[in-house]
Amino acid sequence: MLGIVVLAAGRGKRMGAEGNKLFLPLGGQSVLSLTLCHIRAGAPACPLMVVYRPGEKAIVQAAINEAGLAPDRVLLIEGGAERQDSVRLALAALPADWDRVLIHDGARPILRADLMARLVRGLDQAAAVIPVLPVTDTVKMVDAAGYVLKTVDRASLYRVQTPQAFQVAPLRAYHQQALQAGLTVTDDAALMEAYGEGVLTVAGDPYNIKVTVPADLPLAALYLKESGLCES
Ligand code: CTP
Ligand code: MG
Repeated sequence: MLGIVVLAAGRGKRMGAEGNKLFLPLGGQSVLSLTLCHIRAGAPACPLMVVYRPGEKAIVQAAINEAGLAPDRVLLIEGGAERQDSVRLALAALPADWDRVLIHDGARPILRADLMARLVRGLDQAAAVIPVLPVTDTVKMVDAAGYVLKTVDRASLYRVQTPQAFQVAPLRAYHQQALQAGLTVTDDAALMEAYGEGVLTVAGDPYNIKVTVPADLPLAALYLKESGLCES
């Protein structure tokens, strides 16, 4: 069975708000509730696991209700200090019948069905599938003093989004191995890469932005209007 893990256990330091950025308002609901609403609309049959920050279980439950998700469809587990810890804890707690999983940042509220479909199709070919977008800016390498070292050829560079799709068994094993080895990564696909698994890329969705800094909020609100889903 395919399930979806939604990560909500961060603090949102770069947003600079008082609490977790996932509870800031966006389009008439919270960022997290909007993410969950898109999942309800785009993957109506999938079971979910939401990973919350210690002390935030009740507010996450409220976001689940706000998104109109049936409570019995959603498992709740407590996350860890870093994103990698939250994912490892989620994988360790997955129901035994979940053999494939989409791991998604709660901070990406505009998750559309066609992206999820591309990722899941890719799992027929590879144990890991990630959405990417080409880099459109010119990219330069800069030294610590602020001087340009060189211009990097962007033709083979891509920005990576979530959800990332995985066969559960290898990803769970590599997360445990990384814990033993003290290996830290910023996305789950990097663990598959580190342990020699092929990672397939599919086209990402430019609307699928991550709400990270304050300037991302008005942009997400605009994209939400355009996408036309989950507006309230
Ligand atoms: N996340 C998590 N557990 C952590 C850290 C992050 O579940 N210990 C989640 C966040 O809630 C977010 C996603 O991972 O949905 C992507 O992380 P990011 O955008 O970096 O969010 P934060 O870590 O909350 O923000 P910041 O790095 O600015 O503090
Ligand atoms: Mg973070």
